[in-house]
Amino acid sequence: MAGSEIIHWSPTFSVGVKLIDDQHRELLDLTNDLFNHCVGDEKSERAYFESVIGKAVQYIRGHFSTEEKIMIATNYPGYKDHKRAHDTFVLQVIEQARSFEEKRSFTLLAFTRYLKDWILTHIAVVDKEYVEYFKKIATRKADGRLTITRSDIR
Ligand SMILES: [Fe+2]
Ligand SMILES: [Fe+2]
Repeated sequence: MAGSEIIHWSPTFSVGVKLIDDQHRELLDLTNDLFNHCVGDEKSERAYFESVIGKAVQYIRGHFSTEEKIMIATNYPGYKDHKRAHDTFVLQVIEQARSFEEKRSFTLLAFTRYLKDWILTHIAVVDKEYVEYFKKIATRKADGRLTITRSDIR
């Protein structure tokens, strides 16, 4: 069952910033890895979850912090709401991990689906909201490439 995908990358997910697109792909890979470990056997699902959840949360936090740094540096007006969405999600993931540790209701598949739904909605809707804003800054560049440097920030 290796290689099954619960989320497939689509070019429509692109936010036009390579650094962020690469991190989003990584998030999709992470979710697909979880999906590939949904074997229906609680013992092995638990073992897998325990072995990856810490790193997964760290990766998610790192990604959010990348986006937030760019938003702050570019004076993005939607920063506050976006950061709130990130923070709420991190708390929810931690809450789910805790519920798993305490052996309250949990299946790896339910967690994976939750992660998939949040990531898809967030990338396709909330992250997309900064694309036009970032593009405006980037269009001032001669080569037309979307890179944001210190000189772009007014
Ligand atoms: Fe993102
Ligand atoms: Fe985001």
